[in-house]
Amino acid sequence: MSPSAPGSRLASKLGLTDRVFAGPRSRRLLSTVEAGLERVDATLRDELHVSDQLADTTSRYLYEAGGKRVRPMLALLTAQLGKGTTEEVIQGATALEMTHLGSLYHDDVMDAADKRRGVPSAHAVWGNSIAILTGDLLFSRASQIMARHGDRAIRLQSDTFERLVLGQMHETVGPQDSDDPVEFYLQVLSDKTGSLIAAAAQSGVIFSEGPAEYEEPMFVFGEKAGVAFQLLDDVIDLSADADETGKVPGTDLRAGVPTMPYLLLGRQEDEASVALRDRIDDGVARIADGADPALLDDPLADLREHDATRATLDLAHAWSREAIDALAPIPDGPVREALTRFAQAVADRSS
Ligand code: IPE
Ligand code: IPE
Ligand code: MG
Ligand code: MG
Repeated sequence: MSPSAPGSRLASKLGLTDRVFAGPRSRRLLSTVEAGLERVDATLRDELHVSDQLADTTSRYLYEAGGKRVRPMLALLTAQLGKGTTEEVIQGATALEMTHLGSLYHDDVMDAADKRRGVPSAHAVWGNSIAILTGDLLFSRASQIMARHGDRAIRLQSDTFERLVLGQMHETVGPQDSDDPVEFYLQVLSDKTGSLIAAAAQSGVIFSEGPAEYEEPMFVFGEKAGVAFQLLDDVIDLSADADETGKVPGTDLRAGVPTMPYLLLGRQEDEASVALRDRIDDGVARIADGADPALLDDPLADLREHDATRATLDLAHAWSREAIDALAPIPDGPVREALTRFAQAVADRSS
């Protein structure tokens, strides 16, 4: 995926889009959503413009590198339950995608991730300070957009952002002795990732002036699909295929950030599982002391093949089914069908 080529951006989305809009009933919905995504992208491009040249370059950097635009897609889909793709829907989706984008700049600093969207991460190019400030700039721009649309929009943005930040903070601090590590981690996933995907799903209803009784189900749907999405992210973190993911395999674990496969491995008491966990812990400690991160290649390959990774996929499917259950109040039709496929696709993806 080459940076700044709109064609490749579209291609990177195709897997998900193809699946969400499969079937003849979805054809019109697909062209509506595609047209909306083009508008969101154009709005993002405009809203990312900064008169300061360095800030302009750094702000555009990850936007131009690609991204699946999962959150705008969801907002555009649920907007079709109301008055459709209104200008407010486009602006809301743009602000939420910009919030996501800003969080990636910060996340890569915190996770010491070298690559993002197939390119060197922003901090690897400009250093931590510029990466953090660029993320801050994107958050302020997202707030400016939401401020044009009144209290409700500002609240959606600020409540979502607070949860995202606390999710990242809780992940960083880790569970206390009284916390169950797996339950604690699921709450982290809900907060750091589910919050924004929930807001995206709900924003489509709000900004298209859709039926108020759909707002809560869409929130629950987004939240649960978001957890499923993030559980897959943990499995993808173990993926051998860096070309497909655009990230360095095992980034989180090598940096000592626990992920679900690792936590589920910790619940197993057989000798081989305990030994694998010890090898990972030992590798993480040595990397923290300056050893070559490649020393975890073999243990991570073993974790990928372990039951704990299979169990993570099963868990993702369970969250995806709960997301689909939340759609019960939505009338049968192409939108509900596409949302159902969306929840299935996020729990079964490779990039
Ligand atoms: C990455 O999100 C960060 C997570 C919350 C898992 P995406 O997988 O949606 O990232 P892009 O936008 O496609 O790059
Ligand atoms: C990203 O979580 C969550 C946010 C940016 C809020 P991860 O750290 O697990 O995601 P990736 O793997 O870097 O995309
Ligand atoms: Mg990360
Ligand atoms: Mg992270």
